[in-house]
Amino acid sequence: MRLIIAFFTAAIALLSAAGYSQQSRAGESASESGFSPYVDAQGNISRPQDFRTNWVHLGSWFVSDDGEASGPGVHDVYAQPEAVAGFKKNGQWPDGAVLVKAISAIQADKLPTGNAHWAGDIGVWFVMVRDRENRFPDNKAWGGGWGWALFKADAPSKNMTTTWKGEGLNNCYGCHVPVRDTEWVYIEGYPTVREYARYHE
Ligand code: HEC
Repeated sequence: MRLIIAFFTAAIALLSAAGYSQQSRAGESASESGFSPYVDAQGNISRPQDFRTNWVHLGSWFVSDDGEASGPGVHDVYAQPEAVAGFKKNGQWPDGAVLVKAISAIQADKLPTGNAHWAGDIGVWFVMVRDRENRFPDNKAWGGGWGWALFKADAPSKNMTTTWKGEGLNNCYGCHVPVRDTEWVYIEGYPTVREYARYHE
């Protein structure tokens, strides 16, 4: 038994010397850091994929395409079950909470209910990751206690956000500053959790 352990220890030492630990850091550093499975050691954010199946749906926005809208579509917002449990308990988002907003194309038709609008294919994903410990002070995609990321359907694994104070869709700061007092989140749109919010007591 002792021999076997010695063998493995030697093998691991060899592998790390050969740079294998570096390699796994790029891919799996999140679990290494213990912070978030969607964030690596440098603060790079990856896109959660199972949110429609395993996460909690917080609410939806419908932004009609009136020619002036900067983000027309059906906006569905999700958070992990444990983040929602934390919010319900403390009235604020816990460290590691991830919010995903998926923006889908608008489908419309006259249905037996009336002039119906519903979600088509997703075009854009916005992701926010709560960081209460200022873990990435040098990474400009982190600020206000969150990491900010944007993914588009034509390159769904590429995070387009290098700074949360960027241009256009990357001006996360400019568009979220009106709600900085509610942790930068448009909380009134989320009937699943809004009655638990504790910001104005
Ligand atoms: C054009 C203004 C605008 C920009 C730019 C913008 N947001 Fe938002 N965001 C909003 C508004 C308004 C809402 C809620 C209402 C809605 O979706 O229409 C929202 C909602 C969200 C939500 C759902 C949770 C919440 O805060 O209510 C996430 C996640 C999000 N944005 C992330 C981002 C990220 C990340 C960026 C930058 C990469 C960004 N947003 C840039 C305006 C913007």
